[in-house]
Amino acid sequence: MHMLLVVNHDYVCFVSSVHSDRKSPSKNNSPRDIRSTTAPSSLAEDDVVVVRPEESLRGEIVVPNLKMFTFAELRSATRNFRPATVLGEGGFGTVFRGWIDEKTYAPSTVGHGIPVAVKKSNSDSSQGFKEWQAEVKFLGKFSHPNVVKLLGYCWEERQLLLVYEYVQKGSLENHLFRKGAEPLPWEVRLKIMLGAARGLAFLHTTEKQVIYRDLKSANILLDGDFNAKLSDFGLAKLGPANGDSHVSTGVVGTYGYAAPEYVATGHLYLKSDVFGFGVVLLEIITGLRVVDMFRPNGQQNLVDWARPFLPDKRRLKKIMDPELGKEYPLRAAAQAAELILNCLESDPKNRPGAEELVEALEHISAIKKNPKGSNAGSRQPTARPEESTPTNYRHHNHHRSPRNPGRGAVDRLRVSPGPLRVKRP
Ligand SMILES: Nc1ncnc2c1ncn2[C@@H]1O[C@H](COP(=O)(O)OP(=O)(O)OP(=O)(O)O)[C@@H](O)[C@H]1O
Ligand SMILES: [Mg+2]
Repeated sequence: MHMLLVVNHDYVCFVSSVHSDRKSPSKNNSPRDIRSTTAPSSLAEDDVVVVRPEESLRGEIVVPNLKMFTFAELRSATRNFRPATVLGEGGFGTVFRGWIDEKTYAPSTVGHGIPVAVKKSNSDSSQGFKEWQAEVKFLGKFSHPNVVKLLGYCWEERQLLLVYEYVQKGSLENHLFRKGAEPLPWEVRLKIMLGAARGLAFLHTTEKQVIYRDLKSANILLDGDFNAKLSDFGLAKLGPANGDSHVSTGVVGTYGYAAPEYVATGHLYLKSDVFGFGVVLLEIITGLRVVDMFRPNGQQNLVDWARPFLPDKRRLKKIMDPELGKEYPLRAAAQAAELILNCLESDPKNRPGAEELVEALEHISAIKKNPKGSNAGSRQPTARPEESTPTNYRHHNHHRSPRNPGRGAVDRLRVSPGPLRVKRP
């Protein structure tokens, strides 16, 4: 039987298919209860249905194991969305830290219960609604250590909110690019990428494959042990069906990370995600943003600038993050560089699959630095060569504040073909 849904005029909404072993909501069974059933790791065809507005007066999505919060509860959990609780800001809205009771998910006071991240939409635009809906649709059903957990949501009086597990160390973007951030050791960088690869492999191999479409350092969150958790499923899409190689769709994403074939044609492959993965891997080894208009001409696009340095160990050393010093095995870096080149192949067929990424990174992680090796020794950061060093531009970003790390010129795509869907105007 189909379970509920929502709606609003022109929106196509989804429902969860309800199986007999799951609790279905009823008037006696408040939808605010936390469902105890386990989320399936696959998505069903009948997840997508159209519900006419007259069928539901007030929007309500009921997905087992998610809590439907009231706005008042989330206001209380975040102390009235107090600015001091802001964790960050994105295209969808602002993210606040709040506290809820571990068992009942009722709002709690600071330090009591569990911390959560509450994402609050800035507007009730149809774009915001679609992204909110996709988050609930996908994240609500996923359970994987490398995918952030969605605990619940709220849609009340035109307010759209999402409640996630709080991921302690915030985004990889902040760790790589925020001024004053502690440099990440080589092993930690690999651990993060391995976690992200495992998360991606999970998405790509669920029964209904899911294309993430928004892989970037801002969307990789890090827990206390630097385990990576993919977040932000607002742009996620079910993968190709019926033996098709791709899905055709409007182009959205983030400049620099989006795969060229997708930007050019709107053809979205599972391996379009792998291109974005290669870009993040390049960011993590160089410590440089994918796009930064504050770098000199010729260096603003990291992929274009760094590509010729990747195939050759000697040249590779020149673009490695100076913060790493010599504290990384050059052989491992060379293999990572080769993996990046494979991910950036222009034909998606030539890129590795997500499971191959996992294997390759496991292999690279096993390579330890030889104390007598060529790049062993001093902890002093190495300088990049004059003509190619954007080092001084690394933290030069006028749009950034400690709370809002900004992203230089990295921005949402506004590219044809297809309807333009823009998160950040
Ligand atoms: N679950 C979470 N736990 C801890 N911090 C979080 C969590 N979710 C988001 N954040 C913080 O909030 C910031 C903003 O997140 P958000 O996903 O809204 O935007 P973004 O990823 O930076 O940009 P975009 O909207 O373009 O994807 C993140 O960079 C991160 O620092
Ligand atoms: Mg994000």
